Amino acid sequence: MRVIICKNKKEAVKKAVWLFSQEINNKKDLILGLATGKTMIPFYKELIKANIKFSKIHTFNLDEWYCVDSKDKNSLRSFMDKHFFNKVNIPKGNIHFLDGKTRNIKIECEKYERDIKKLNGIGLQILGIGINGHIGFDEPGTSFNSLTNKINISGEIRNLYSKNFKGFDNVPKYGLTMGIKTIMRSKKIILLAFGENKADAIAKALNGKINEKVPASILQKHKDATFILDKKAASKLE
Ligand code: F6R
Repeated sequence: MRVIICKNKKEAVKKAVWLFSQEINNKKDLILGLATGKTMIPFYKELIKANIKFSKIHTFNLDEWYCVDSKDKNSLRSFMDKHFFNKVNIPKGNIHFLDGKTRNIKIECEKYERDIKKLNGIGLQILGIGINGHIGFDEPGTSFNSLTNKINISGEIRNLYSKNFKGFDNVPKYGLTMGIKTIMRSKKIILLAFGENKADAIAKALNGKINEKVPASILQKHKDATFILDKKAASKLE
């Protein structure tokens, strides 16, 4: 596992985008695993500027709110359309997303796993990290053996989103997400984190024991995972 500490957020984003472009330029039909959240906004902004050809790329996003329609302005799909998909040349048919409004969760999640496998797996996965150490919507306590499934979203995380949904009670209680095992099957992983509020989660993920209470700690076992951090997020590392 590699840890790259950059002097600030701007440098961290540049480094992540540089690594992404290298990978995509080496493999034009790379399968990307993508994330949403505040951390990803500057990342996508910079990735768009990198002028990469995405025409043969396929993408799989980590997660979606359940039960939120993809067209809803708070859906993670809308986030991706706004910050990335609408601004690059990815064919719409190459964008894979969990359907937050699915009538059959089991079938939807199994299909997602199958679709990833059919394309020979995710080549490069970008991750953010939650203040509680979550990755995707995989909250503390999620089994390291989990595949794509429906999960409960903690009050702590729902609280962070209450502004978007105009009140805590409107924030969905559930999400659909790739499981930890799904994420770990990605050939290469880059986790991006900035800011002091991520320092505890980063220290636990990198220096702590590998355990299900800190989902990101499993990345210590991944053969090709890189954490790209700014100084603040790295401030509690030993
Ligand atoms: C969402 C996702 C989440 C976020 C995490 C950090 O697709 O994967 O795990 O990466 O919640 O979110 P921000 O960047 O908003 O702090």
